[in-house]
Amino acid sequence: MKRILVTGALGQIGSELTMSLRERYGNDNVIASDLKTQPNGKLLDSGPFESFDCTNADALSAIVRKYKIETIYHLAAILSAVAENNPGLAWNVNINGLYNVLEVAREFDCAVFIPSSIGAFGPSTPVDNTPQDTIQRPNTMYGVTKVTGELLCDYYYKRFGVDTRGVRYPGIISNETLPGGGTTDYAVEIYYEAIKNKHYTCNLPAGTFLDMMYMPDAIKAATDLMEADPAKLIHRNAFNVTAMSIDPELLAAEISKHIPEFTIDYDIDPVKAEIAASWPNSIDDLAARKQWNWKPDYNLATMTKDMIEILSKKLL
Ligand code: NAD
Ligand code: SER
Repeated sequence: MKRILVTGALGQIGSELTMSLRERYGNDNVIASDLKTQPNGKLLDSGPFESFDCTNADALSAIVRKYKIETIYHLAAILSAVAENNPGLAWNVNINGLYNVLEVAREFDCAVFIPSSIGAFGPSTPVDNTPQDTIQRPNTMYGVTKVTGELLCDYYYKRFGVDTRGVRYPGIISNETLPGGGTTDYAVEIYYEAIKNKHYTCNLPAGTFLDMMYMPDAIKAATDLMEADPAKLIHRNAFNVTAMSIDPELLAAEISKHIPEFTIDYDIDPVKAEIAASWPNSIDDLAARKQWNWKPDYNLATMTKDMIEILSKKLL
């Protein structure tokens, strides 16, 4: 059985990925960790939890040694909008935290899963069907850290043989833990507001197309890639993966099929709008499909039906 450490386990992705890994590999084999100290009941009751700062190399190393960790899912990070407000914090966590994870992985021979993002692209990247290998000149601190992270992961594999793997996630839509300050957060908030208030004021302009994915597919992407035959991985890190390309109007129209009274209006956040405008409309995930059989299970219609069913039970 693998011994796994998840950093950032209390975040949007980590809270659900940890539970899925525990189901797959056994509760006691998956150690949840975060800077925050207060896990919810489910995470705390189902297995080990450790609180530490991933920028503290000694603390990280002690945990890896204590639990004889073999695989690290490194999810601790600062997301795009928060990063733009605090670039120094984003650099420290996203770069120094990642460096510590790669160093400990080198020392203790761990495999590492690291998410990059559609934020690793920038205004000069082709916007439609963005290829796997293309121009990456992001103009946000989040994007700078994500491109640097992609390169560092490639370097640690090539130079030291560390088994690094990763995807470029699009915006992730989920119903368990709220997102942590990204540009795509609107696509989660819209469901909560549609159910609670039948109205949503969106902070990105209509016509802002971005890639998105439902959480079960995000979890599937991480676990499938980590289980994939390494001989078939030409890229290893930063695989484009997507499930849909949508804008606020399309999302609102789909929600209206379930909640006919639902209305949307706009109050644009200039920082988020500028970040979103610098990202692709849609990315091409052919490399992931070919190299490790990536394929999403959910589209906009099936995700929306599921989101509304689950959130209605949770919120009403
Ligand atoms: P999140 O903000 O919801 O969670 C991140 C977690 O990391 C938080 O619980 C936070 O407390 C923790 N953390 C922050 N600083 C830390 C530190 N110094 N030490 C330890 N823990 C720390 O983020 P998420 O949405 O779950 O994202 C996880 C990863 O996936 C990130 O690398 C992110 O860039 C990437 N990603 C996310 C999305 C998305 O839409 N959620 C899209 C693309 C990429
Ligand atoms: N959802 C993430 C963000 O907006 C994309 O990386 O920051």
